[in-house]
Amino acid sequence: MIGALRRWAERHTEQSRYSPVGIAFHWIMAFLVLAQLLIGWYASLLPSGGDKLLTYQAHSAVGLPILLLAIGRLFWRMIIPGPVNDADRGGWQTQAAYLTHYLFYICFFGLPLSGWVMWSALGEPAPLRLAGVIPWPTLPLHSLSTEAQYRLLAAAEETHHILILLLVALIPLHVGAALKHHFWDRHDVLRGMLPEVPDWEDPRGGSKHRPREAGLPQQ
Ligand code: HEM
Ligand code: HEM
Repeated sequence: MIGALRRWAERHTEQSRYSPVGIAFHWIMAFLVLAQLLIGWYASLLPSGGDKLLTYQAHSAVGLPILLLAIGRLFWRMIIPGPVNDADRGGWQTQAAYLTHYLFYICFFGLPLSGWVMWSALGEPAPLRLAGVIPWPTLPLHSLSTEAQYRLLAAAEETHHILILLLVALIPLHVGAALKHHFWDRHDVLRGMLPEVPDWEDPRGGSKHRPREAGLPQQ
């Protein structure tokens, strides 16, 4: 099964592209994480009360799928090697890119987990639901002493805040590097992370994007 998946993915990674699964993970998670930063920041600005709690409930509903996607993505990344592209030339820039990716993965796990701990140590201020639909349990922290719960809450809150700062620092570095590779160095790095749209001339065919030429029926 894993061998078959690897062979399928190699058809893409051998052309310096991420597989469609890797691309889907990247863009869905990039969108959710950015949305999550905005929802969390917006919630933190609201005065205490019903709207703040509702906004944090939405925040947890979006954050929990990020945890599940992170598990799936890490598993995928472990069985399917990434492509070798123009960014893999060795040197500090390659090392910096790998470090950025590792740190992103730490945020993908650390933020939802610390959020989940906070929510549980708060005694579940409102029900947790995955994507706002599927009931999600709190962690069994009620067996701990009140003092231990408070200490855990403080540690989880601090972790959440440190990881938010890390994420906010990494995103412009990462996006800036991707754009520099593409527009300045003319490397294939960004192309490999974009969905593939076959050309009409593509020998593999199957294009839905025919050129507008006289006599050719448009699809
Ligand atoms: C990638 C996932 C996540 C990101 C990027 C994220 C981001 C944020 C941000 C930007 C804030 C506002 C911080 C502030 O200025 O006070 C925040 C606060 C908070 N988040 Fe998250 N969060 C994530 C996941 C979660 C999850 C899954 C939960 C709950 C299950 C959660 C629970 C909370 C809580 C309770 C706070 C309030 C903390 C405080 O007292 O400041 N977060 N988060
Ligand atoms: C406009 C926004 C973005 C662009 C243009 C972009 C572009 C790229 C590109 C080109 C790569 C491949 C890098 C390589 O192979 O060396 C990549 C990988 C990656 N990006 Fe982004 N990215 C964006 C947003 C984000 C965001 C917001 C996150 C995190 C929240 C993120 C996390 C990652 C991770 C973890 C990888 C490594 C993929 C893996 O091997 O699993 N990206 N990105």
